[in-house]
Amino acid sequence: MFILGIDTSCDDTAAAVVDNEFNIISNIVSSQSDIHAKYGGIVPELASRRHIEMIWPVVDEALKAAGIRLEDLSAVAVCHGPGLIGSLLVGCSFAKALSFSKNIPLIAVNHLEGHIFSCFLSTHPPDFPFISLVVSGGHTSLYRVDGFGSYKELGRTRDDAAGEAYDKVSKLLGLGYPGGPVIDGLAEDGNPEAIDFSRPYMPESLDFSFSGLKTAVRSKIQDTRYMIHDEGYNPEVKKSEDVHRASCIVHQVIKDIAASFQACIVDVLVRKTEWAVGKEGVKRVTLSGGVAANGELRRRMKEIGNEKGIEIFIPSVSLCTDNAAMIAAAGFHHLRAGNFAGMDLNPKAYLPL
Ligand code: KG4
Ligand code: ZN
Repeated sequence: MFILGIDTSCDDTAAAVVDNEFNIISNIVSSQSDIHAKYGGIVPELASRRHIEMIWPVVDEALKAAGIRLEDLSAVAVCHGPGLIGSLLVGCSFAKALSFSKNIPLIAVNHLEGHIFSCFLSTHPPDFPFISLVVSGGHTSLYRVDGFGSYKELGRTRDDAAGEAYDKVSKLLGLGYPGGPVIDGLAEDGNPEAIDFSRPYMPESLDFSFSGLKTAVRSKIQDTRYMIHDEGYNPEVKKSEDVHRASCIVHQVIKDIAASFQACIVDVLVRKTEWAVGKEGVKRVTLSGGVAANGELRRRMKEIGNEKGIEIFIPSVSLCTDNAAMIAAAGFHHLRAGNFAGMDLNPKAYLPL
């Protein structure tokens, strides 16, 4: 049995074929980063236009890579929200047309459910119940998952998502979009203790808040702007007459800010996940979403797992960022449960789990 997954929720056009054993047969993602990079963030109208151009080529490539035809599909699963409404509309319209023309079931999958179920695309999936930290560009939430379809939200961000904070800080530093991978790379050579950003733990709840951190980074950048943006403004650098040395100084400041910012985010995510484990008495954790691709977060989560005897499940990097294999995986659960969508399926920008 083959299921086609489709995700067009944000700025990636994704299609994948997964079989009923949760094996990924093909997984194609066409990124739009180059289109949005010059604006420092996603431009929704450009995103939906690009999805229209790419949806059929991407689905075609996923089928070819899987070595199957449309006629071999048992169902089509599509992400219907949350996300950018114009982008979602493209995937949903395509999936509806496919379901109707090939007479196969249409399955609607919540994007967050897809991220949670990316952990099942592995030879060692988690048992229920587990705590799930979903951390992406649009969401930062902790769930208790007791079974398929049984999700209890324990906490969520009250303002910026962690990935959004990465992207905004990257923009402030002039490093472009998406910010996560760039900051992740730069932080490796920076000093995480260079700046002691205060940790927004909010111990009274499992909610998150990252907008204050972004503001703290902004004011730090303003303090050091003469070094970052305008070498000539720094009398030290001017005196040195050594342009190479000057650019090294500039880079080190940026790397230190990146590493200190990242240390703050990772500390908060790891600590609050530990609290959720303690509160729920569940020693099993899954980590997913784009920010779960972060090297330091993956390392620290595994470290805490070893120290505290918590089982940690983290998908491969390509399954953390947006993809359609995760939509197909969650889709299979809906298929087994007989949860089908009709031709009246409409995407929703806001769609809680
Ligand atoms: O899950 P995702 O692909 O899309 C959403 O559902 O939002 O997550 C994208 C987010 C972006 O904010 C991006 O900057 C962040 O994930 N991201 C990372 C890394 N790779 C992607 N953040 C930190 N470190 C990374 N290596
Ligand atoms: Zn996502």
